[in-house]
Amino acid sequence: MKPKHCLVFFAFLCSQALATFKLQEHFQWNILDYEYPSEEARLQAILTGRFKPENNLPVGIEIWNDKMFISVPRWMEGIPATLNYVPLNIPVKNPRLIPYPDWESNELGNCEKGLSTVYRIKADKCDRLWVLDTGTFGIENTTQNPCPYALNVFDLRTNQRLRRYELRPEDTNTNTFIANIAVDLGDTCDDAFAYMSDELGYGLIAYSFRENKSWRFTHSYFLPDPLRGDYTIDKLNFQWGEEGIFGMSLTPPKADGFKLLYFSPLASHREFVVSTQTLRNSSKVGNSWNEFYALAERGPNSHTTSRVMDDKGLQFFNLIDQNAIGCWNSEMEYKSENHGIVDKDDEELIFPADVKVDRNENLWVISDRMSNFLLSSLNYNDINFRVMFAPIDVLVKDTVCECRPNDLSGLRIPHRFGQFPVQLYSPYPGKSLF
Ligand SMILES: *[C@@H]1O[C@H](CO)[C@@H](O)[C@H](O)[C@H]1NC(C)=O
Ligand SMILES: *[C@@H]1O[C@H](CO)[C@@H](O)[C@H](O)[C@H]1NC(C)=O
Ligand SMILES: *[C@@H]1O[C@H](CO)[C@@H](O)[C@H](O)[C@H]1NC(C)=O
Repeated sequence: MKPKHCLVFFAFLCSQALATFKLQEHFQWNILDYEYPSEEARLQAILTGRFKPENNLPVGIEIWNDKMFISVPRWMEGIPATLNYVPLNIPVKNPRLIPYPDWESNELGNCEKGLSTVYRIKADKCDRLWVLDTGTFGIENTTQNPCPYALNVFDLRTNQRLRRYELRPEDTNTNTFIANIAVDLGDTCDDAFAYMSDELGYGLIAYSFRENKSWRFTHSYFLPDPLRGDYTIDKLNFQWGEEGIFGMSLTPPKADGFKLLYFSPLASHREFVVSTQTLRNSSKVGNSWNEFYALAERGPNSHTTSRVMDDKGLQFFNLIDQNAIGCWNSEMEYKSENHGIVDKDDEELIFPADVKVDRNENLWVISDRMSNFLLSSLNYNDINFRVMFAPIDVLVKDTVCECRPNDLSGLRIPHRFGQFPVQLYSPYPGKSLF
């Protein structure tokens, strides 16, 4: 197919694709429940208020082998466990959550051995689960910090904790709120870095697994855009104006061996990018302002909190204002014409809180009506939480994201965001991003 045809053809099909229903429901809950050692223990927990089902909101997911991990932040009282899993193959639609690795490791306020509040989680190719514990209880002005922020790494084969690293006091500030983590695995399991986005303290913290050390970048690109703080989700209008750097995804390795970290502040429609060559080097803190690049805005109503990239460089991102999941092929220029919608549903995709890709190239999504939960209330007669998935090939079919790079050979569209010109294609001297 000739490049020009490809673009016209796919742009046409892309608009068609909006009407197609593609993600397939795997789990659905009206309300969450937990697998206690016995039914008496469960009833006892409900009677004493240690388990208040209506306060439990699932926010983060991850898939490893036949387990689906689900995190539940301790925003209120009555959250029995913050890190949990369910067997993927269980023949029920609303399985009870099983604390991971066990009940004891989920004790609120037990800083050494327990997890207080977990948001997003990430499994790597070395069968480890990276879990950032914020150490908090509560939300917004009710937040208490019984424990410091700590990065935990679990061995998924043995269910043992391999590492617990407390962030240094210099890594955080009084506004710090970190709800997201990206994991950058190099050639060996030891050559691993975690990047943590400080949404309200406006920083990006890098952690080296080998050196067991962390450092913190600051940049004005981590700040919210003051024009983009207004949201309407499921007819509910509200303002999250202070929310900075949040969603992150890493590309496959480029020719220079490093990856690119794409990120967006939550109160923003813009995408930014930096090489892991910068982030991995602690000496770059304070002298790398020009190594962060601003790309285009996605377009109206394009706030996003979660994104993931597969091994081929296809990025998927939640579009919380649109009840939709977007896609972008990172081998094409970052601009809205090159973004597709792989699914949209005004009932089933209200607040798609997390997106993940499994090892079989399926995209997984959890939707949880988070804004209704936080700003209004949920109706527990409704299905409120859904886990859905579809093979990536199926999802991108007939969208602009299906356009493969060889269809675009020789095509170079000038970048329209003036300040960061041709460099988009080659920010690193002599090396192409493609
Ligand atoms: C927290 O904020 C809410 C709404 O903004 C307010 O109603 C409440 O009184 C505040 N609570 C405290 C402890 O400041
Ligand atoms: C990593 O560093 C932390 C504190 O800086 C320390 O408590 C921990 O034992 C270290 N872990 C390893 C494996 O070196
Ligand atoms: C890290 O960055 C410093 C400062 O820019 C540079 O001098 C040094 O060569 C870099 N180290 C590596 C390993 O790239």
